[in-house]
Amino acid sequence: MNVKGTTELLGVIGFPIKHSLSPVFQNAALSYMGIDAVYVPFEIRPEDLKEALNGLRLAGVKGLNVTVPHKEAVLELVDEISDEVEKIGAANTLKFYEGKIVAYNTDWIGFLKAAEELTDLREKKVLVLGAGGASRAVLYALKKVGASVLLWNRTKEKAIRLAKEFEVSVIDNLEEGLEMAEVVVNTTSVGLKDEDKPLFDYGRLSEDHVVIDLIYRETPLVRAAREKGCRFQTGFPMLVYQGAESFRIWTGCEPPVKIMKLSLQDYGYPTESPRTPSRT
Ligand SMILES: NC(=O)c1ccc[n+]([C@@H]2O[C@H](COP(=O)([O-])OP(=O)(O)OC[C@H]3O[C@@H](n4cnc5c(N)ncnc54)[C@H](OP(=O)(O)O)[C@@H]3O)[C@@H](O)[C@H]2O)c1
Repeated sequence: MNVKGTTELLGVIGFPIKHSLSPVFQNAALSYMGIDAVYVPFEIRPEDLKEALNGLRLAGVKGLNVTVPHKEAVLELVDEISDEVEKIGAANTLKFYEGKIVAYNTDWIGFLKAAEELTDLREKKVLVLGAGGASRAVLYALKKVGASVLLWNRTKEKAIRLAKEFEVSVIDNLEEGLEMAEVVVNTTSVGLKDEDKPLFDYGRLSEDHVVIDLIYRETPLVRAAREKGCRFQTGFPMLVYQGAESFRIWTGCEPPVKIMKLSLQDYGYPTESPRTPSRT
């Protein structure tokens, strides 16, 4: 890395932030493309967000990714928001130009591009687990491609609220939902730790299910999918593709996705299922 007086600054804001893998693959991409910029993590507490964002703007930062817990809070602090941000209600990408901050959401397209590596989601019956911020981006993406969605969440009221907004169906009984679904998407944080109580009996997966877990590790759900012979994917591909779309917004360049993926090999990527013939 050759940092000079002309080097531009990109980064990611969140709290905590030390676990973030975005600096790894974004710097690999910048360096590969020969772009005179660096990407750094900024750990910013919720109570400091307004001041920090203004400071970063004044310091000449060109673009930021936004992660937990700031994805919704930043909306109050930016000058413009994209249509997707308006519909999803959260931003994960900020672009600074001419003194203004514009908010974008690339989680939804990151999810779609990653899922496309595994299956064609158009007109599929998809069971979505969870109704938090990630679920909103996934529901937006699934509706965009015309998938038919069954939504389940531990706190049912939240699922009902989202179902109205995104025009999807809510289910109570996960086992029934599983029988109806061709694709299962976990957007909850269950599986971050191996000892988390499973969302359902993962032994009930059939080999025809396609399983996508947004968590960037091999969760018990993904492990069960692997053992059953399902096609599956962890959160790594989505992480890369959402970052790749942010890269496109900041630089105007085609993101080097292969380089981004390669840079994460030491961190557990790839852990998606092998290329098996499509069954669905
Ligand atoms: N791969 C990627 O690029 C990517 C992008 C975004 C997010 N993610 C991952 O997606 C996950 C969710 O993120 P988020 O921003 O949506 O979080 P969030 O807004 O806090 O939502 C958390 C969701 O998990 C559910 N949940 C939490 N503990 C549970 C439990 N013990 N049993 C059942 N449900 C439980 C919550 O249900 P309640 O409503 O009942 O509380 C809620 O639906 C995180 O692990 C995050 O790392 C990955």
